[in-house]
Parts: sequence; structure tokens; C-alpha cells
Amino acid sequence: MKNHFLSLLFIYSLVLGSTVRTFASLERGQEIYSQICVTCHGPNLDGGIGPSLVDAYWKHGDTSEAIMRAISKGINGTEMIAYEYVYSEEDRQAVTDFILDKQEGNRQTLRSFYARDYFKGKRLTPELFDSVESSSQEILPENFLYTKRAFDGLLRGQSKLYIKQAGKYRFEVNLHGRTSIWLNGEEMHYTDVDKSKDSYSSKQFHLDAGIHDLEVLHEEPTGHSMRFNARLRKVGGGYWMLTGKSLEGNTPKIVRPGTEAKVVRKWIEGLPPRTLLVLLPNQVMVAYDSASGQVVKAWKSALVNQTPSLDNRSQNQSVAKGQEIAVAAGTVLEGHEFNLLHYETQGDSVLISSLVDGVSQNFTISPQGTDSFTVSLH
Ligand code: HEC
Repeated sequence: MKNHFLSLLFIYSLVLGSTVRTFASLERGQEIYSQICVTCHGPNLDGGIGPSLVDAYWKHGDTSEAIMRAISKGINGTEMIAYEYVYSEEDRQAVTDFILDKQEGNRQTLRSFYARDYFKGKRLTPELFDSVESSSQEILPENFLYTKRAFDGLLRGQSKLYIKQAGKYRFEVNLHGRTSIWLNGEEMHYTDVDKSKDSYSSKQFHLDAGIHDLEVLHEEPTGHSMRFNARLRKVGGGYWMLTGKSLEGNTPKIVRPGTEAKVVRKWIEGLPPRTLLVLLPNQVMVAYDSASGQVVKAWKSALVNQTPSLDNRSQNQSVAKGQEIAVAAGTVLEGHEFNLLHYETQGDSVLISSLVDGVSQNFTISPQGTDSFTVSLH
């Protein structure tokens, strides 16, 4: 009886098509993610041992196919194994969909360059660009538009815009040369500084939650590195950069203590791979190894030099910096088998929840004075 019911459900979902199937597979995707991927990519998908799966940087591609390939085939020579031997194709697609569903902002950015001549005196439109051959095309690993130093010509960026919250949006564009922005085939913004000093901000428009086609067309007034700068803003909310400085070859990202506690999960040389770096507002940082239940190190005046995971960036690994605090190491939880369940920031402290030999255990790491910390078990 039960089996019969299940197969009926299956047929039902095939007949109903994508809405039913998507919902079911997102749940399955989430289940797989929290069983296995979470240990390396973090509970919020923002990275740990493995890279963040929700930021703007993708080393192996951010299309559905590219993400599916990374999951199926793994990445040679890294901790990212081939999951085609672990999960069915349907399951791998489910976790791919789950990751795609978490994206926000500009994705799958294709950048093309064009020589200037053809565009002189003509209004910039996608059709105009379609009618000329580009001089180069590249899928960018970083999801905003940037140019090489000696760039001279026109820039076309085509991407997918992932919107999670429906609402009113607008583009904000600094005024340099000519800029045209298109959404789902419709012109949303046009400025030409030679002709008019149009506003910095485009008209407002409504966007549904979902995936939209975005196109940016731009010409700098002189042949020079691009000073053009644009972003999408949610009215009364946050914003997403459409253009920016490439992180390739640039300085790495520094994570400093803030007014709230932070948890940094990155591979740090000399620390076990399951280490959580807890960065407290008093600039003390505590390295807690979630696989052994121990505090393994601590520093004061600390920061983390965290490098995104692209090959050709100037620095190859993350480092923890600071003054080491003597006798900080010690056992927090005793047991044999440790599983990290989750962690969360609570103001200036961090709550860490683990399963130790099958029993759930919670503790909090908090700042103490100017150069110390306390660990309290609940
Ligand atoms: C043992 C740690 C580990 C686990 C478990 C793991 N990954 Fe990874 N993953 C990595 C590492 C490390 C990389 C980066 C490899 C590299 O240097 O390119 C990576 C890369 C990726 C990428 C490519 C990211 C990019 O920037 O292009 C995707 C997608 C991905 N993982 C998805 C998953 C999914 C989905 C799961 C669960 C089924 C999973 N990973 C489980 C460690 C892990």
C-alpha cells in the first residue's frame, strides 16, 4: 500500500512538471548538503575548508553544468572528491539546484570587448553589439565586470541576475562615457556624458524573485583603464556591485575583529582542518578544533589574512596573525567522536554546538578583559 502511494506521488510530480519537482529536489539537496558538504563549505555555504559557494568568486564555474561537474567529478588533488560514486545523478542535481537557489546578485558573467570604430555616433543597444564581432570573450570567475589595464574599446557584460526578494530596485552608475543597462531585453538606464548630465541613479523598477537577464554596455571616454562603476540597489536595502576591481593579483582579504564576534573557517597552515577561528571584539582569536573538542591556540591583537580560492591570486594560503597567548590551549569537550552541529554568533560571543559520542553539547566562547577569553559550558 505504502509503495503504491509513493509511486503514485512520483507519477503525479512528473505530470505536474517543474514546480513540484523543484520543491522536492531542493529539500533533498538541502538534506545532502547538511549531511556532507556542510563540514567543508559551512552551514551558511560561506566556506570553511572548501570555498564559499555563495560569494561572487567561482574557480570552476558558476553555471548549473559547471557546479554539477565539480560535484560529480571532484577537483583533483584537493579535498573535494568525486561525488558521482556516492550519489545518484538525481541527488547530485538536487544539491546543485540547492546551491543555485542560494545565489544572489550577478552570476555567470560573460565579458566581451569590441573595437571603438563601429559604435561611433550610434546609440548603444544589444542588437548593435550583436551585429559586430567581438575582439575577445571571457567567462569571468569573479561575477562583476572588470577590464585589463591597457583596455581601449567598448565593454559588454552579459550575466544572470539572481533576485531573492521581489521589490523595487534601481541602478546606480557613475558618469563616465556612455553606459547602457538592459534587464530582460528592456533598456533601464542610458547615460552619455557628452550629451547630458543624467542622474547618477536610474529610474526605479520592480523585480520579481527569480533569475533575470542583465546586460551592461559601456564605453569609456578615453582609452584608459576602466573607471566605470555601477551597482544594483534594492530601494531601502542592500546593493550588489556590477563592476569592480579584479581580485586576481590584488591584495588578499583581511578579516578583522568587529563589534560582534565572528567565525572564520579557512584552511590555516599549522591548524587542523576542522578548526573554527573565533574572532572576538576584544581582538582575541581562539582556534577551536571541532574534531577533537580542544582549543588548540589563541592570539591577541589578531586578524585573519584570508585569500579567496583562485589560483593566480598573490597569496596562496590564509594565515592567522597576532600575538600568541601562552597556555590558552586546553580541552573543552571530552569524548571520542566529535561532530560539529552548528555555531552562531550571539553578540560578542559565539555559541558552538556539537555531538559528542552521540550526546549534544553546547558551549560559548566570550571575550574577557582586553586580552583574554572564557569558555562556558551549558
Ligand atoms: C572534505 C572537504 C569537502 C567536502 C566534504 C566537500 N567539498 Fe566541495 N570543495 C572542497 C574544496 C577544498 C574545494 C576547492 C577545490 C579547489 O581548490 O579548487 C571544493 C570545491 C567545490 C566546488 C567548486 C567551487 C568553485 O569555486 O568553483 C563546488 C561546487 C563544491 N565544492 C560543492 C560541494 C558539494 C555540493 C559538496 C557535498 C556533496 C562538497 N562540495 C563537499 C572541499 C570539500
